[in-house]
Amino acid sequence: MANEAEILRAADIVAGAKNLVAFSGAGVSAESGIPTFRDPGGIWDRFDPDEVGTTGGIFSAAAKKPEVIREFLSETVETFEKAQPNPGHFVLADLERMNILRSVITQNIDDLHFQAGNTRIFEVHGNLYRQRCLACDKKTKLTKEAYLSQARSVLIDSKEFELIHLLSLMPLCECGSSMRPDVVMFGEAVQAVPESIQEASTCDVMLILGTSGVVYPAASLPRYARGVGARIIDINPREHPFADISDVVITEKTGVALPRILEQVKKIKPPSK
Ligand code: OAD
Repeated sequence: MANEAEILRAADIVAGAKNLVAFSGAGVSAESGIPTFRDPGGIWDRFDPDEVGTTGGIFSAAAKKPEVIREFLSETVETFEKAQPNPGHFVLADLERMNILRSVITQNIDDLHFQAGNTRIFEVHGNLYRQRCLACDKKTKLTKEAYLSQARSVLIDSKEFELIHLLSLMPLCECGSSMRPDVVMFGEAVQAVPESIQEASTCDVMLILGTSGVVYPAASLPRYARGVGARIIDINPREHPFADISDVVITEKTGVALPRILEQVKKIKPPSK
């Protein structure tokens, strides 16, 4: 079977971990139907990050060429409506329940690690379903269904779409100001940085899952782990941006490799009943 030796080696390392931390990127959610950013045909191939990747860009494009923003946001709504955790996400939740995985640091905003059952998650680029008040900073998490059905009615079901309709997607906070999705756009401050650095700097094994490792400061986290001597396992079907610091690289989709690793971990360290 492909990658057999690497899978066995990774399972051995994972089963022996005292403080296992996973660091995930868009590739982990690819098998849930959410396109990555930089793969061929990915989000940045089809949309201009200057238009849809910054808050100013979105509002400016919504005023000048609303059809572009409507297409981008409608596609996002339809993709997220269908997206469910995949086998890779579920393995991370199983590893947490087995007291092997301590935390997940993710660059993803899709909530799928929570939906799979992980509880200790550091979302460095935010969460689409959480709203943040522009004035008082209060955060409120909506259900996926509530958020997406409102977005669908404005973006997909209505005849018109202009800047004013985009603004109607920003609910009012109890303080009277507007709220916006608590996601990190380009140029904005990354979230949970001290906690993520703390997780990376105190782990003994890090799983790097489906990331191109080009967006900083998130991409520096594996180097914090390596800096304290953690062993690194990088799983990615196309590239291994952390090969220079990795003990094991597995050229495979995370939804395929992680279940195979878990199967072996259970043989080494059977879960308690
Ligand atoms: P990228 O799109 O840059 O990289 C996705 C990675 O996932 C690539 O290395 C792919 O080879 C890999 N991949 C594809 N399918 C996979 C699969 N089934 N299993 C495992 N890996 C797979 O996404 P990120 O590295 O997450 O930031 O991008 C980082 C940040 O750039 C994002 O959080 C976002 C983006 O701009 C913001 O929006 C602030």
